[in-house]
Amino acid sequence: MNQTITINDRPVVFTPGQTILEAATAARSEIPTLCYMEETGHRDVCRICVVELRGSDHLVPSCSTAAVAGMEILTDSGRVIESRRQTIRMLLANGRHNVGQDIFPT
Ligand code: FES
Repeated sequence: MNQTITINDRPVVFTPGQTILEAATAARSEIPTLCYMEETGHRDVCRICVVELRGSDHLVPSCSTAAVAGMEILTDSGRVIESRRQTIRMLLANGRHNVGQDIFPT
């Protein structure tokens, strides 16, 4: 039996068992992802897909959080955008990002 959440104040019908990301995607509401791969189930690592739940102090990863009837979800609030910015900054500050030079040496 389908149930309803709201995403950015728009009602979205979902099937129990779907994640917030799956419900949003089915409703053509875009949430950015990096580590999520539908085919492999690999998820919940990068936190780019975080969303805000009204009434909660914490942002949650939409790719691994189950949709629950009545949730009020914000995908582009100030807190969400700032969190994604910080995540991208941390990803860029760590690791090697010039792998192409190692693969194709001159
Ligand atoms: S897409 Fe990486 S944690 Fe959700």
